[in-house]
Amino acid sequence: MQTWRLDSTAQTLVLASKRGRMAQVIYWGNPLPKAEDLQALFGAHTLDVTGGMLDKPPELSICPDARQTFPGQPGIVIADANGKPMLPRFAYVSETRSETTLSLTYGDPDHDLTYIAHFEIDRETHVISARASLNSSQDIRLHWLSAPVFPAPQLSDEMYDFAGRWCDEFQMVTTPWSAGIRMRENRTGRTGHEHFPALIVPRRGTTNTQGQVYAFHYGWSGGHRMIAEELPDGGRQVQFGNATGSELNASRHFETATLYSVFSDAGLNGCAVSFQRHVRDRIVKNPARPRPVHYNCWEAVYFDHDVDQLSEIATHAAALGAERFVLDDGWFGVRDDDTCALGDWFVDTRKYPNGLKPLIDHVHAQGMTFGIWFEPEMVNPNSDTFRAHPDWVLGDMDQILGRQQMVLNMALPAVQEYLFDRIAAMLQSNEIEYIKWDHNRVLPIVDADQTRGTYALLDRLNVTFPDVEIESCSSGGGRIDFEILHRTGRVWLSDSNDALERLKIQHNAALFLPGAVTGSHVGPRKSHTSGRSHDIRFRAWVAAQRHMGFEMDPRELTPDEQQVLRDVTTWWKENRDWMRTADILRLDSADRAIIAEQQLSQNGAQFVVFAGKADTSNQIAPRPLRLTKLVTDALYTIELVNRADAHHLSRGDQLIKTTPMTLSGGYLMNHGITLPWSFPDSMWVLKGTKL
Ligand code: GLA
Repeated sequence: MQTWRLDSTAQTLVLASKRGRMAQVIYWGNPLPKAEDLQALFGAHTLDVTGGMLDKPPELSICPDARQTFPGQPGIVIADANGKPMLPRFAYVSETRSETTLSLTYGDPDHDLTYIAHFEIDRETHVISARASLNSSQDIRLHWLSAPVFPAPQLSDEMYDFAGRWCDEFQMVTTPWSAGIRMRENRTGRTGHEHFPALIVPRRGTTNTQGQVYAFHYGWSGGHRMIAEELPDGGRQVQFGNATGSELNASRHFETATLYSVFSDAGLNGCAVSFQRHVRDRIVKNPARPRPVHYNCWEAVYFDHDVDQLSEIATHAAALGAERFVLDDGWFGVRDDDTCALGDWFVDTRKYPNGLKPLIDHVHAQGMTFGIWFEPEMVNPNSDTFRAHPDWVLGDMDQILGRQQMVLNMALPAVQEYLFDRIAAMLQSNEIEYIKWDHNRVLPIVDADQTRGTYALLDRLNVTFPDVEIESCSSGGGRIDFEILHRTGRVWLSDSNDALERLKIQHNAALFLPGAVTGSHVGPRKSHTSGRSHDIRFRAWVAAQRHMGFEMDPRELTPDEQQVLRDVTTWWKENRDWMRTADILRLDSADRAIIAEQQLSQNGAQFVVFAGKADTSNQIAPRPLRLTKLVTDALYTIELVNRADAHHLSRGDQLIKTTPMTLSGGYLMNHGITLPWSFPDSMWVLKGTKL
């Protein structure tokens, strides 16, 4: 018998196997004592057998094997180069291990295949990264390769995964466990609004702040498949891998992307904090880089670029507190609308007769840095680039267009060279420190080479221009995953600048993303994507929950709106350093109208609560809001930052409306803080400081 274990202070993962067969996860959860006898554990893990079953229970291994009467989905589906199915049978070959890593190698001598599973546990973030690879001596065809398979708990009634659409990303979907499969397959060729690649499996009774939870995220930008399957014997398996059939060519080497997994005994927040910290401290480039306040001109001018107008807007934006000006779509080719010119990455001399320099100089003179928009992987049929290179396009010529555009085949070296040269030329000839990298349509076919091509281009640009920061945008949040975040420092979470929608999207996205990488802008008074109008206070505070920016024509703001925006921006700047590394903790609200979170500093010395009111409440008076992760015996000064926003219909003489208060962590966590009455579409902001 072989056994292996990986530990952090938050969890233990135990794998085991008999007679050189594929390893199984036999335990995953709260830390086990060092002295635990893993051989005994394996014995204890074994299921009984009764009538109607095989004589031994089939093993739920890290790569379930189609030749062992496994009654569920196998971990590998392959064929030889001629398409004849291959049923591999793996046996243990070797391993390498350290305190925090484990690699297990299995071989199939009949087919000359090698399968390697790699695990790594991060002792600080508690995230387990796992991936699998398959090598063959001959070209083979891959239909499906799962990252190492994890079991899901049986004391769990439901699972959460994520759906979404343009302007409404990160919708949490609850599905009860039942016999058979819950499958999500994203065949759009990008991470997608529709299928954020993640699964959360709570044990019964879990909330944001308490309970045991297992969470998974698959870091891949090319479309994935997830299988959550309950087997006939009650066992449950979780598989994640690249979308089936996305390897279009026979090859001798295949690998999965990384599956990030974590167990938490502290509710959904335990998983969220692990993922947030892992993204911030392990994944993004330059995590410590200060976060400047953005101004983005998209919703101010769209394609109507004029240097004088943009300069005036830049002056206003800087006066409001912006520190980085991002020139969005419309600066290149003859891009007067979205029907043409994608791919023609040359400055439009009609709009910019002297190039971008005069605008950039003006932006710099206002004390701001300059960023620019690209959508490199795309081309409009109506573009010089397409006319010169119709063969660069991915998919058929008569494919359905998306936003009047097609996708360039990123696997072609000529495409890579062209895009690198054009982007590099722009970065070399202009003082640009930021790229908003967009991707506004799905692929005509699902193709892993396309994703690898994009990664290669981003990697090359990152090496050549290490100081340029890149944001991942894809019609808002269509390409958010941990692998794109290895190459980018910020995500454009959604094209919705409607503060109410944003509040909800941000709340769910925080299960995976730290505030520092999550862009959030104050939009126009009347939202361009929902038609709703919101008060500047609500818009500003929702943006201040994440990486703050503005995205409206600042000339529309009244003096009062300008003042509020300046004040909230000043507050954000004063707090951004500690908030950059704060944990975002979702609060369990007793009022279904309140969407609340607590951002707690790493050292626990301060926190801010954002309590957004997304609807009118059922009851007349506000219910107390319980805080979390404070020190029970410690005292905290609590101050309602925006108490001046109290409406005159809030008539009670609550202390919190007039003065800071001192309360214990015990009171704040057990009873909760009672906030003043407020209208829907408003936000209370509460600052806490430990005494
Ligand atoms: C996408 C982005 C927007 C904007 C436009 C420009 O929709 O998500 O923020 O950049 O493209 O065309």
